[in-house]
Amino acid sequence: MTPQDKISAIASCKGVRPVSQLTAYDYPTARLLDEAGIDMLLVGDSLGMMVLGFPDTTSVTLEHMLHHTAAVARGTSHALLIADMPIHTYDTPEQALHSARALIDAGAEAVKLEGGVDVEDRIRAITQAGIPVQAHIGLLPQHIKEDGGYRMRGKTEIEAHALLEDLAAVVHAGAFSVVIECTVPEVAARVTAASPIITIGIGAGHGTCDGEVQVIHDLIGAFPWFTPRFASQHADVAASLSAAATTWKNNLELPRS
Ligand code: KIV
Repeated sequence: MTPQDKISAIASCKGVRPVSQLTAYDYPTARLLDEAGIDMLLVGDSLGMMVLGFPDTTSVTLEHMLHHTAAVARGTSHALLIADMPIHTYDTPEQALHSARALIDAGAEAVKLEGGVDVEDRIRAITQAGIPVQAHIGLLPQHIKEDGGYRMRGKTEIEAHALLEDLAAVVHAGAFSVVIECTVPEVAARVTAASPIITIGIGAGHGTCDGEVQVIHDLIGAFPWFTPRFASQHADVAASLSAAATTWKNNLELPRS
């Protein structure tokens, strides 16, 4: 299937069935999620915290993303593979197109970047070059410091209106989908009702968007030091890993003399 075929199939889910999206940062995870039938895999810049040990996403570079996108691409056949554009890799339309092309060359089939009205020109530069874009509005982790921290967005009518304006901008610029992060569920539902493109929620309530995205480590309990309140955990990989390592260590034997 071409990326465009995958995008058309995903677009046709609107109002029919929920769309699934999970992050993946390596080959085995990508292959398992792809074989499980997940619709979209995201090499998120949450890579910074989940894999590289940084406190937030702002230390992630294009080089990090290229390395992990290539690994995920080797494990992905059916899912649409989206790569996040790190902070300061899309400060201008020219830079945005250059960075997006590098991610596509590494194996991504689409790119994701954060912002609405403020990045409309960046999204347009990429989509006009034929590269599909997933937009990301609501809480923007790359701007958490200047945007007032991890608080729900859409709490006032002014914020709700701004989110609808962001939606209009990203649709106008040609995005095929939009992530809505940490947004009051009623407002996420309003944005979805107004959206001609697939909306994907995270921390925006259940049944408010056309689909949902989760960080894979939250879903499988692989990062026990911090789990967002909205995460839904369906395994305890951290406990299994610790138990396996402890059992193995306790069964080691000295050489027999
Ligand atoms: O980087 C990431 O994992 C993301 C998702 C949480 C949407 O942007």
